[in-house]
Amino acid sequence: MLLANKDILDNIVSSDLSAMEGFIFSSIGGEGIELAANVISHLVKSGGKKIRPKLVFIICKMLNYSGEDRIRVAASVEFIHNATLLHDDVLDESEVRHGVETANKIWGNKSSILVGDLLLTLAFRWLIECKNLNVLSILSRASHSLVKGEIKQMTACFNPHTIRKNYFDIIGEKTASLFSACCEAASAISGATSDETEKLRNFGFNFGMAFQIIDDMLDYTANQNTSGKQAGKDFLEGKVTLPAIIAYEKGSPAEQKFWENCFSLAERDFNQALYYINHHNAIQLSIEKARHYANVAQDNISTFSDSPCKTALVNFLNTSIERQA
Ligand code: FPP
Ligand code: MG
Repeated sequence: MLLANKDILDNIVSSDLSAMEGFIFSSIGGEGIELAANVISHLVKSGGKKIRPKLVFIICKMLNYSGEDRIRVAASVEFIHNATLLHDDVLDESEVRHGVETANKIWGNKSSILVGDLLLTLAFRWLIECKNLNVLSILSRASHSLVKGEIKQMTACFNPHTIRKNYFDIIGEKTASLFSACCEAASAISGATSDETEKLRNFGFNFGMAFQIIDDMLDYTANQNTSGKQAGKDFLEGKVTLPAIIAYEKGSPAEQKFWENCFSLAERDFNQALYYINHHNAIQLSIEKARHYANVAQDNISTFSDSPCKTALVNFLNTSIERQA
């Protein structure tokens, strides 16, 4: 029987993901903090996509590396990501993620922030255990970048002349930097050449850009029943994302005034915004932009020899762009 693309990927990474979960739970057990164990168990079971550790595992396999550091790096990137989500859900006052209650809804903001901090410190402890300064440097730079991106997003003001550039800067920092670091760190522990490492770093960056554009597009099209997301959340929080930017750029002066009021005066009418977005084909144009980044990502790894892992990596990229959740 032919396996679907997703099953091929799952086949390649499933035993590594189990090893990572075993590693995470044995480390947490040793911490002796019940709250942290409960929050982490909730996060691990709540259906996250585990994109970042999967990237680490496929790339290590593609480069024929099967040493223990791949588990440490994968667990670290998953924990850095989970730490950001714990903090992000507090900042965004989110109550649902992946269709289940967020940790801040269940345990409160203080618990989420502190467990997020714990995850971050554990991640860096595991990275130090790799005894590879390069890997440590890659992931500390990415962590710095994603906090910077989040701060820029929080303080971004609606400036019609710079919104497009600001948007791409912010998603580059808050999302693509960690995707890029996953690929670069996997390459570094696998002993790849600096040329291969640079190609994989760029692949990860462009993958991350495409991923976040789709995430932002889904905010305007989401149906909570099928995607676990609540439509319009970013818009109502005043986050200026690509569909709104496109509708603004293509809009009449009256429409531009509408968008300026939405983001500077907080007069936010989601149904009207959706009308303009659909009228200007901004969903389709956002998907095209994500597809552009995905094509660049694919070009970045065109010189790697064909292999089942490379095919799985490219399929992973493509299915992340085609996702509905
Ligand atoms: C999700 O974006 C959020 C991020 C990708 C980054 C969040 C980063 C921080 C909160 C800084 C804290 C950093 C560390 C290292 C602890 P989103 O809100 O657009 O996506 P969502 O729809 O999944 O919530
Ligand atoms: Mg959020």
